[in-house]
Amino acid sequence: MGFTPEQLEVECRWIDEHVGDHPYGVDIVIPGKYEGMGELDPAKLEAQLRAAIPPQVREFAARLLADHGVPELPPDEEHHDLLGWTAATATPQVEVALAHDKVRLVANALGTPPAEVIQQIHEAGRLVAALCGRVRQALRHREAGVDLIIAQGSEGGGHTGEIGSLVLWPQIIDAVAPTPVLAAGGIGNGRQMMAAMALGAQGVWTGSLWLTVEEAECPPAQLESYLKASSKDTVRSRSFTGKPCRMLRNDWTDAWAAPDTPDPLGMPLQGMVTMDAIRRTHRYAGSPGAQRVAFNPVGQVVGQLQQQRSTREVIQGLVEEYLDALERVNASLPG
Ligand SMILES: Cc1cc2nc3c(=O)[nH]c(=O)nc-3n(C[C@H](O)[C@H](O)[C@H](O)COP(=O)(O)O)c2cc1C
Repeated sequence: MGFTPEQLEVECRWIDEHVGDHPYGVDIVIPGKYEGMGELDPAKLEAQLRAAIPPQVREFAARLLADHGVPELPPDEEHHDLLGWTAATATPQVEVALAHDKVRLVANALGTPPAEVIQQIHEAGRLVAALCGRVRQALRHREAGVDLIIAQGSEGGGHTGEIGSLVLWPQIIDAVAPTPVLAAGGIGNGRQMMAAMALGAQGVWTGSLWLTVEEAECPPAQLESYLKASSKDTVRSRSFTGKPCRMLRNDWTDAWAAPDTPDPLGMPLQGMVTMDAIRRTHRYAGSPGAQRVAFNPVGQVVGQLQQQRSTREVIQGLVEEYLDALERVNASLPG
């Protein structure tokens, strides 16, 4: 979502060169509902949306950053405010993804992908996945011809719904059968993976777990915020993207939730307001005060992430814990 089509091309090329014969997937975000939905020209959409942002909302965001002493970006740095979270900006990303043979899966978040996007991906011989947090959304995905459904419980990091994983997963698995379901939200070890498989999932889909690995692109101050957080330190907040997104609670999330402050705008307007904050708090993550207003998306599983590990160690841990859990369950069978 955060890449321009040109950046996505660079990333895909890098992955192609490093994964050997393995397949991989690309995540996109075409929300089911967003401001400016009919406009398909990215430049026109960006101009139309920019004009719709009330100045007091921008001023409130700028003041929060200034009050926390977050340095400004160099003035000559070029950037877009509108990321790939509209059909206009995500469609070029799909084209880039499909031009790479090893991309076997395109996954969409925040809604059922438009029929023409599903058709385009299928015609290219690839699979379509879509995330959801409610049974109704899962049924819509299935009816649209989505090949695999990712059921994400509320405890998950990033954009997330209100229903907890243990309640959501089996309902979605039953509702869309035989469409395969991957369980997401709150999986940080092999025991949790095993629980998802026991409930009928065909596999699991994880996010937060990878934020603190050695290979992750995470500034040291942000890494420290994640490693010291407990599971009660996250909140679902609209304050960065305009849609409920789970992240570490801090002064920024509290400020936008206060009764006497502006309400966050919808998606993608709020993201256009906060792009400056996201970039500044990432670039200057270690400056005093920055972490109190930084965008630190993560799920409740953050409380289990207490030290940095390599990806290899995390994968080995998942396998070993899964097998231990399976043995424990098997041992509980009579005779
Ligand atoms: C930092 C972060 C960014 C994410 N960005 C996206 C995204 O761009 N597209 C998407 O489909 N899901 C995104 N997700 C959600 C993950 O794909 C996954 O469903 C979720 O992290 C699972 O829950 P967990 O965090 O408990 O593992 C993001 C999650 C996190 C933590």
